[in-house]
Amino acid sequence: MHPNDDVLLDVTGLDVDIMTVGGSHRVVHGLDLTLRRGRTLGVVGESGSGKSMTATAVAGILPDAAVASGSVLYQGRDLLALTARERRRLAGPEIGFVFQEPMSALHPTMTIGRQMAAPLRLHLGLTRRLARERSAELLDLVGIPPSRGVLDAYVHQLSGGMRQRVMIAMSISCEPSLLIADEPTTALDATVQKQILDLLARLRGELGLSMILISHDLGLVAEHTDDVTVMLDGHVMESGPTGRVVSSPESGYTQGLLEASPRLGRSPRRLPVIDKSRFTKAVPR
Ligand SMILES: Nc1ncnc2c1ncn2[C@@H]1O[C@H](COP(=O)(O)OP(=O)(O)O)[C@@H](O)[C@H]1O
Ligand SMILES: [Mg+2]
Repeated sequence: MHPNDDVLLDVTGLDVDIMTVGGSHRVVHGLDLTLRRGRTLGVVGESGSGKSMTATAVAGILPDAAVASGSVLYQGRDLLALTARERRRLAGPEIGFVFQEPMSALHPTMTIGRQMAAPLRLHLGLTRRLARERSAELLDLVGIPPSRGVLDAYVHQLSGGMRQRVMIAMSISCEPSLLIADEPTTALDATVQKQILDLLARLRGELGLSMILISHDLGLVAEHTDDVTVMLDGHVMESGPTGRVVSSPESGYTQGLLEASPRLGRSPRRLPVIDKSRFTKAVPR
């Protein structure tokens, strides 16, 4: 067996340039990432560090104003060497993508059922009736029973958590091997956030998915990933097994992220006592 046989995705020297009116501007610099089959890779970094540009470049859904170079080997094939059309055909069903904001990723005036049916009909060739049945099964799989009537609902009628469940159901509908979740819970409150992360973990086990979980929160990534890559300003600062990176970070930047994360338990859980008299003027009695 070749030593790299368990590598599903191998990104090497990825550059992403954004075209603006002011000219071209590099936002990802020579990035390397490796995802092994069946594992979850975390990509962590502050807002603007290039996480979404990296994720969309890997999935072949980079915005029109951006260009990627380098190599993105998926099961040994370089996705960046394919034409846009070939890439869509290959990556569309193989790489599922969960966006941070389901509200903007879902169509506002099309029922959930019709949106879910489209890729099933296109990529799997299902009839309208079978696509509807399959959509109902997918919703059930992500914790939305048929009795909720979601297939005939519009996105604005759903709660944030339900929207994200629908988004996840769509992302796995063509049975991808890789799921990329770009800040899937950032827009959600803490309770729903946990439900969605638990759902992703369950699906990963049940469907044998490999996953890239993107977040600005190192605490969240520490709890849910096997390996992690830390990014700053489009560069990789550090990568390795999550346990090692969290227990003994090599980069001062990772160290800083750890200290800033409330979940990682180094600092006492008790909130500091704030002397409010410092902020309010004493009111004479
Ligand atoms: N549409 C755009 N036009 C110009 N610059 C952009 C655009 N989208 C992103 N960028 C730039 O690319 C960099 C990386 O963005 P992004 O990948 O979205 O970061 P992240 O997902 O880590 O928050 C940002 O610093 C931003 O300045
Ligand atoms: Mg982003």
